[in-house]
Amino acid sequence: MGFGPNLNRRQFLAQAGLLTAGALLPTRFALAQMQKIRIGLMLPYTGTYAQLGVAITNGFKLAVAERGGKLAGREIEYFTVDDESEPAKAPENTNKLVQRDRVDVLVGTVHSGVQMGMVKIAKEAGTLMIIPNAGLDAATGALCAPNIFRTSFSNWQPSYPMGKVLADRGVKNVVTLAWKYGAGEEATAGFSEGFIKAGGKSVRGLWVPFPNVEFQALLTEIASIKPDAVFVFFAGGGAAKFIKDYAAAGLRKQIPLFGSGFLTDGVLDAVDDAAQGIETTLHYGDGLDTKRDRDFRSAYSKAYKSDPDVYAVQGYDAALLLAVGVNAAKGDITKKKEMIAAMEKAKIDSPRGTWTMSKAHNPIQDIYLRKVVGRENKVIGVAHKALADPARGCKM
Ligand code: PHB
Repeated sequence: MGFGPNLNRRQFLAQAGLLTAGALLPTRFALAQMQKIRIGLMLPYTGTYAQLGVAITNGFKLAVAERGGKLAGREIEYFTVDDESEPAKAPENTNKLVQRDRVDVLVGTVHSGVQMGMVKIAKEAGTLMIIPNAGLDAATGALCAPNIFRTSFSNWQPSYPMGKVLADRGVKNVVTLAWKYGAGEEATAGFSEGFIKAGGKSVRGLWVPFPNVEFQALLTEIASIKPDAVFVFFAGGGAAKFIKDYAAAGLRKQIPLFGSGFLTDGVLDAVDDAAQGIETTLHYGDGLDTKRDRDFRSAYSKAYKSDPDVYAVQGYDAALLLAVGVNAAKGDITKKKEMIAAMEKAKIDSPRGTWTMSKAHNPIQDIYLRKVVGRENKVIGVAHKALADPARGCKM
């Protein structure tokens, strides 16, 4: 057990003012209790996913603030790294938190490619990690591990149900378009799987490199292919640009546009009317009309003067999950086994609705069908109840 950065036991006691003559020395446990829990936030704070990183951070800190700024009586210290959604920098950035800052818990990230680097290091170091967004299927699939948890979704998860929604409407031929990296590939694969299984006929995939937003040539191609529908994966700033370009190209009325809900979450203020009527599937939405969600939304708006979105909820739930673990260990976060056992059994009372952990540590959750009405992603139904990711390749 450590005594904080670069302090031995004696120095720590001196700093804490506890080394006075005749004072009873606290036990190691009491000492550990006085130290702050070190939380490493590795998220994008610049680039196309910047606003996602901010919303996750806000949500996480709101849940901690609601617990008086403490978990199981222990104060929290945050260490923050901007990962820039840059996979090449992932090992170095993760090690800043794991080795330099010696965090107790890693919370991150948004981008699946960066997540891959984080997962490898967390697995090796054994650091507890909570993923508050990135859908990288392998994180709770082939690379699943006891110390890796996710409070968001797998890339497969919110896209798969849209396949059946469209097939049931008689849609036969779809063009998918996505950023060419893990999340885009896995999201469109999930959609295609659901679509073909439910009777869809063909899916043709078009790609754009991440984080490019030059969509013109692809929109021209879509117009000439004339599919029954288009399904896309974009998020953040790139999603806002795509929605505007799709409308400006005159495609909105010709070919209906669908996506996983990242397309329209957190971007509606930026696109004016261009998103009206777009339907998406996601594990959160506006107008759930539960007390839990109303309370969360009013607390979030009060704290941050903006409305929460799915990313804020995922960050909030990451802190709820950590609280379950820390409480079970009565604040002694060296008791990793106890923490993990409690987190595996957690029933998270989330603004999105109550969810539980799958065996592979990914939420089992309802996937909502939503429609953009005004400035809301209005929930209009449940596309798939209590959906669990198939966790392909997970041996745990
Ligand atoms: C991902 O890279 O896994 C990712 C990024 C942004 C989203 C969803 C998934 O909104």
